Amino acid sequence: MNRSFHAISQLWYFRNALTLQANIARKKNRIRELGNYYEFGTFKGNSLITMGNLKRFFSIIYPELDSLALFSFDSFEGLPKSELDHNDPVWQKGQFFGSLEEVKKNVSSYRIKAKYIKGFYSESLTEELAIEMSRFPPSIIFIDADLYSSTIQILKWLDKIALPMSTYIFDDIWATGNHPELGEQKAIIEYNSLSNTRGFLIESPISLGSKTIFSFNIKNTLSDPMYSLRTKDTL
Ligand SMILES: C[S@@+](CC[C@H](N)C(=O)[O-])C[C@H]1O[C@@H](n2cnc3c(N)ncnc32)[C@H](O)[C@@H]1O
Repeated sequence: MNRSFHAISQLWYFRNALTLQANIARKKNRIRELGNYYEFGTFKGNSLITMGNLKRFFSIIYPELDSLALFSFDSFEGLPKSELDHNDPVWQKGQFFGSLEEVKKNVSSYRIKAKYIKGFYSESLTEELAIEMSRFPPSIIFIDADLYSSTIQILKWLDKIALPMSTYIFDDIWATGNHPELGEQKAIIEYNSLSNTRGFLIESPISLGSKTIFSFNIKNTLSDPMYSLRTKDTL
């Protein structure tokens, strides 16, 4: 029951994010590109397959979604050990192990193409990677890495390259009861409190009060390189 509810809500969140981002990219004013899908936490590939299938389906209505590429960021070795996290026995080192080979096989069996960035975030989410990935910036971000320590690393790294009004979907806010000192919620609060960042997160209307979906807002809209106030007519 719990699992089916989770699967249905994930479909709903992904669908809303895809249609919202397609509509933002269609705007005549304050234009920006469509962006791409970044997934942090892939395990065996289920959520990546869900997004790949939905993207294919919604490309019928929004043909531009064809160009939305899927990127998966994972250790492909399961959860890391972290001293920063509370001692919740629910999250164990090595848990959710899915090897890169296994995930690639699962995902490609649905004829879904994705790119994989392998490594623990403490090592993989570098300045160099941000520069490289800024050529394919994200606008839909799914964060399912369970831990506070993983989530704060992800949020700080994404701050460098996320497109304005990107949609961030958090899978595990309620796994820790939306507690402000635990898990993903703790990471969001900490990220929003930082002064040396480009943006901040606020709950999105498409979250429908679930505290699960956030919108990435730019602090300094006039100087941000990715926040364009141009209109299509002025191109
Ligand atoms: C709950 S699983 C993801 C489930 C998946 N989204 C699905 O729908 O089946 C969590 C994933 O996060 C990854 N992960 C968590 N923290 C990480 C870190 N610091 N670096 C790399 N991968 C991490 C784990 O390897 C694991 O695959």
